[in-house]
Amino acid sequence: MCGIIGYIGNKQSDCILLEGLKKLEYRGYDSAGVAVHNSNNIKIIKTNGRIKNLEEKLLEKRPEGTLGIAHTRWATHGKPSEINSHPHSNKSGTIVAVHNGIIENYIELKERLKDFGYEFVSETDTEVIVHLLDYYYKGDIVDALISTIKELKGSYALGVLCKDEPEKLIGVRKDSPLIAGLGIGENFLASDIPAILEHTRDIYLLNDNEIAIITRDSIELIDVNKNKIDREVYKVTWDIVSAQKDGYEHFMSKEIAEQPKVVKDNLSLRLKTDAKTINLDGINLDKETLDKINKIYMVACGTAYHASLVGKYLIERLARIPVVADVASEFRYRDPIIDKNTLVIVISQSGETADTLAALRLAKEKGARTIGIVNVVGSTIARECDDILYTLAGPEIAVASTKAYSAQLIAMYLISCYIATQKGYISEEEFIMFRNSLLAISDNIKQILKNEDRVKEIANKYKNCDNVFYIGRGLDYLVAKEGSLKLKEVAYIHSEAYEAGELKHGPIALIHDNTLVVGIATDEHLFEKTMSNLKEVKARGAKILAITLEGKEDIMDVADDVIYIPNTEWIFTSILANIPQQLIAYHMSILLGHDVDKPRNLAKSVTVE
Ligand code: AGP
Repeated sequence: MCGIIGYIGNKQSDCILLEGLKKLEYRGYDSAGVAVHNSNNIKIIKTNGRIKNLEEKLLEKRPEGTLGIAHTRWATHGKPSEINSHPHSNKSGTIVAVHNGIIENYIELKERLKDFGYEFVSETDTEVIVHLLDYYYKGDIVDALISTIKELKGSYALGVLCKDEPEKLIGVRKDSPLIAGLGIGENFLASDIPAILEHTRDIYLLNDNEIAIITRDSIELIDVNKNKIDREVYKVTWDIVSAQKDGYEHFMSKEIAEQPKVVKDNLSLRLKTDAKTINLDGINLDKETLDKINKIYMVACGTAYHASLVGKYLIERLARIPVVADVASEFRYRDPIIDKNTLVIVISQSGETADTLAALRLAKEKGARTIGIVNVVGSTIARECDDILYTLAGPEIAVASTKAYSAQLIAMYLISCYIATQKGYISEEEFIMFRNSLLAISDNIKQILKNEDRVKEIANKYKNCDNVFYIGRGLDYLVAKEGSLKLKEVAYIHSEAYEAGELKHGPIALIHDNTLVVGIATDEHLFEKTMSNLKEVKARGAKILAITLEGKEDIMDVADDVIYIPNTEWIFTSILANIPQQLIAYHMSILLGHDVDKPRNLAKSVTVE
């Protein structure tokens, strides 16, 4: 969603801020702005639309100054427009702020501030913050900020400048990520590491209600009672190039191509070639602990939720523990039955998704043990759950999740096999079979990626379909759900995923001769049944693209096109069958001329409800 970068140092701040904003583009935004302090005043420049518009405006008249803040806005309150974009300021322009998150009580605050004579120029919730800061400012911006945040309900990451305190950049957060970066003779504030990684690898990760007072030479962290906080410096180990395109035309294609490596990285730590068991990064789930668990909830949003569905399927089938997979935005409001014997597993690429974080907090409040399957190291979910299994996919920049999903599936495979082994449901022989297949997945993916040209041809053939159905049975249905979501996200083609057996209970009425049906048929036991369902839609005029295992040539009787994936153990077909789905969505998006890395209306990290 929105992005923040702040700078204080000895260089002109506008270029640093602009470059930082570009690194945050992947978060999704619709307007952008900067504010630069030049010791006499604070100059604000903002634009609607892309960062390049802001760049052009800055080139017309560069704001001089070595202290500044900048922001990319993803509209929540008030349409995308210049006036609604950040930074916002008080009437006299002496206090300026950027904000990520949502102020839930802004209407009430706005009414009160209006009674005090404050005038509002934007439709945003953020504007109440600058007027509150103005109201409370009595010569110390930190004091004003502390009084202000006491009034705020909701989520915020804030960057604040004050004309009369030209040596300070201030940040504070609650339920929205914020970090402070340590440089030499310069320091930074940002909502996300890539924004400042070019300048520093030494980071302070801020927790809720912690304030960062940043000067050129120091960063001080305090709480709302002004107690000093000692925080260890977090050293970023990944490289900026891994957050860039690396020769690929788009982040999405780069990230699809990275999947063999991602799978390997995940397994190298957790499953050795001669292993008799899985190492879950020290997460203690021994037989005694597992025997006490009465239920597992797996909670997530979007693609991560699709990974949780695979987790549910496998844990129930292999480890015989009941699992409820739930969308986080539903889970948090339906008073789920949780006690101390419930295990709650939350899955999130960003580790910042508002609903997933709220679900985690609810689970903890009710006494559950919690495990996070998270990609972004040091993110809020990663820090708040009891145990953490990182998905080690590296930064995922394209809005549509690809490599993080594969890494999440690997986590699902490892957890389900681990639990089943601990509970004695998998024999040593079966374990070895699973282990060997899992260790071959990275090469299997490479093999599928070699056929990308063929998949591109197929994408070209079907790119003008106005309706697509993805169907399958068992795990194949869960794969279908992810394929359908990816197509919607990046190709903007309406699609639905259905259990193949459900089609004739209603949706088959929609099938006509321009409908594409993608049939996933990798489950040996259900293959014939899925074939029959494909025949039913074929008879009603649908075009059929099948994704199946090598050797299943009889599918040609019904399918117009077939993509084969290498044979593997049944539990692992989901990760392989999904790769062609990612490629189809990617190529259709490009062929249709869409912005594949930044699809319309979407944000990478959904930090509001
Ligand atoms: C995936 O392609 C999506 N853009 C989206 O569904 C995403 O998976 C969802 O918002 C959850 O995000 P998270 O994994 O960062 O929590």
